[in-house]
Amino acid sequence: MFDSKTIRKDFPILDRMVNGRKLVYLDSAATSQKPTSVINALTNYYENYNANIHRGIHTLSEEATEAFETTREKIRLFIDAAENREVIFTKNATEAINLVAQTWGRQNVLTGDEIVITPMEHHSNFVPWQQLAKEREAKLVFLPLTDDGQIDLPAAEKLINKKTRVVAVTQMSNVLGTINPLNELAKLAHHVGAVLFVDGAQGVPHLPTSVRELDCDFMAFSLHKMLGPTGVGVLWGRETLLDAMPAYMTGPSVPT
Ligand SMILES: Cc1ncc(COP(=O)(O)O)c(C=O)c1O
Repeated sequence: MFDSKTIRKDFPILDRMVNGRKLVYLDSAATSQKPTSVINALTNYYENYNANIHRGIHTLSEEATEAFETTREKIRLFIDAAENREVIFTKNATEAINLVAQTWGRQNVLTGDEIVITPMEHHSNFVPWQQLAKEREAKLVFLPLTDDGQIDLPAAEKLINKKTRVVAVTQMSNVLGTINPLNELAKLAHHVGAVLFVDGAQGVPHLPTSVRELDCDFMAFSLHKMLGPTGVGVLWGRETLLDAMPAYMTGPSVPT
């Protein structure tokens, strides 16, 4: 049973009055509100062990590093990834997508290659691929949708071909609510030697997600849409692909 009264108690912001009424918040797909446990964890960090991670040998730094790495392991378990080094922290899903387009993409997409996306993508999973296509003189190919907003799989079978380097698709569309057949798309992509990039910004908060079962190659998502703090995103990638990629940003401020 969905007990909204009990759940409301977890979110202090819902005690706010707006226009003379108790707040009703329906914009969670854009960004979710934060429960007390998350707010307390952030306050506890800043009050008790805020320090530089991976770059200090004092107590606070070791505690902060331990918390950081424990979070990475929790995320690995949450998405059923094989290795925790496959979990990369970014500032949001958009940065995770740009990271792959500008590193893996620049290395692997060449003139005349094809990048396959869909018309139901969020701008974050469209513009980085559009820019890459422009830079590389590659072609951006759109998979057509059926009248009920699903990917037309027979058409996809024809459009995903030997020229395709990447199929970049949302797990769950923020436009249509469609949940895409990622297993089928992974098969089609892998059959022609392409990779499947999944925008999990809506899917991961709403669906149990196993990157291994989906058989995708990269996945991006964002914690601010799933009760977590603003400013933390995740890129998951297969270890072999990540190992072969050049650095996206350089300098000492990038946590490894
Ligand atoms: C499907 C989808 N992809 C990407 C994004 C961008 O997410 P972020 O704010 O983490 O960059 C959103 C945000 O609404 C989204 O719904």
